[in-house]
Amino acid sequence: MLNTDLKTAELINRQADWLKDYRPSIRIKEQGKVISIGDGITWISGLPMAAIDDILAFEDGSRAMVFDLTENQVGAVLLHQTNQLTAGTTVCLTGKLLSVPVGDSLLGRVIDPQGIPLDDQSLPPHLPWQRLEAKSPVIMARDFVRKPIYTGIKIIDTLIPIGKGQRQLLIGDEGLGRSSIALDTVINQQGQNVRCVYVLIGQKRSKVVNIINTLRDYNALDYTTVVVAEASGLPGLQHLAPFAGCAIAEFWMQQGHDTLVVYDDLTTHAKTYRELSLLLRRPPGREAFPGDIFSVHARLLERATCLNAAHGGGSMTALPIVETNQGEIAAYIPTNLISITDGQIYLDHTLFVSGFRPAIDIARSVSRIGGDAQHRRIKEEAGRLKLDYLQFLELEVFTRFGARLEASMEATIKRGRVLREIFKQDRLMPLPVTVQLAWLVAFNDGCFDGVDPEDVAKQFDILVQHTRHTGLTLDSPREKWSELIASCLSCREEKNQA
Ligand SMILES: Nc1ncnc2c1ncn2[C@@H]1O[C@H](COP(=O)(O)OP(=O)(O)OP(=O)(O)O)[C@@H](O)[C@H]1O
Ligand SMILES: [Mg+2]
Repeated sequence: MLNTDLKTAELINRQADWLKDYRPSIRIKEQGKVISIGDGITWISGLPMAAIDDILAFEDGSRAMVFDLTENQVGAVLLHQTNQLTAGTTVCLTGKLLSVPVGDSLLGRVIDPQGIPLDDQSLPPHLPWQRLEAKSPVIMARDFVRKPIYTGIKIIDTLIPIGKGQRQLLIGDEGLGRSSIALDTVINQQGQNVRCVYVLIGQKRSKVVNIINTLRDYNALDYTTVVVAEASGLPGLQHLAPFAGCAIAEFWMQQGHDTLVVYDDLTTHAKTYRELSLLLRRPPGREAFPGDIFSVHARLLERATCLNAAHGGGSMTALPIVETNQGEIAAYIPTNLISITDGQIYLDHTLFVSGFRPAIDIARSVSRIGGDAQHRRIKEEAGRLKLDYLQFLELEVFTRFGARLEASMEATIKRGRVLREIFKQDRLMPLPVTVQLAWLVAFNDGCFDGVDPEDVAKQFDILVQHTRHTGLTLDSPREKWSELIASCLSCREEKNQA
């Protein structure tokens, strides 16, 4: 009894102390009103403290992000819209900026750009959150791109190699296999300890389902997060999708992991940004895109990098996809992205219809920094391959006019035709890097010389079967590889006998 009395007295004393220090003050909570809504945007009056990117909460449960400020009104893009949202609904500032949940619990999951799961399962509680907009790593935190990331695609890994932390653009007309290259690359990361994020921006549901199913069928979903903003969804979400994907990968990169992000695709993203900007009455620039579209994409892609050891040594490789119209790479968005990225893989319509798939135009594709990351052995073997192949393409044009060629030129053409057959590769069939070295050695040893172009695929399959599960590595001596290849490809034996 006595004890309770003591406690009460103590409480009263504390309250008296608190009251002594209390100073009444006014806490201002701004409240705005919706003026109009439509096409995924809304105009609001009465939020003088609003700042760009602030999140707004509406009385009916809708959410929006501040996108444009005028003297008396706030323009915002909707991120969630209920049926009750009408003119007159009250709005408050939340004081928050947009973030997504991040971490390993997101692997194998399909989420929207706000982190809301789209696969009928909830996310575990207490996940870390990462801001969608963040500064890119400072120069002193960055390292050179020197580790390779393999796509499993023969042409790319040998002639247009990509390094961890590189930004490599996939560019081409619609339907030429850009997504297939990105998917192959993700599938090829199996067992490589690379966490992947596949961002789908403004795609039809059928395509979204297709890509998710393919990833699942090839067991690639285990190490991948898919961020989806469908074409039928709010344009605001489509605008945020690449930033959400980037934030998810960035968290892993900061933890020291290697990551790969695919933005499929940034043309749709740019068009959505143009739509939102025009609706919010921002002044249009070239091709009616707002003037800051370059900086939006540069801000996004600058966050992909390779961190140095002092900062954990993680990396973020970005594969942005862009669509051209009738092969026109000089259009605004493609030129922007070409100048921001570290190289491009150009897909050509003529090659695609001629049956050369993946339809990569080697002459117009380049990897500006990937060469430094390419493994020494692959680089040695692939050394002159690109120049030889380009020379062959030029010579082949001559033969169409019936010109007589020297014997050495005939040989170049024959080798080129074989090489063209070797470069053909079905989608979803990425090859391990050891097999890539094997075929380069075989080609350089002349094992494919004299093979009819129609038989190249058969010979190549024999080579793949013999070299896929061998104990040899990239660092094994060249003679060992030569011996192994000679034991499976008869053409070399014939050559030796000759
Ligand atoms: N290496 C390949 N071998 C054979 N067919 C391929 C190859 N790559 C792509 N294709 C075929 O090309 C078609 C288009 O591929 P994909 O969807 O990857 O192209 P895209 O450029 O992403 O198209 P979209 O503009 O529709 O996004 C598909 O039907 C696919 O089967
Ligand atoms: Mg596609």
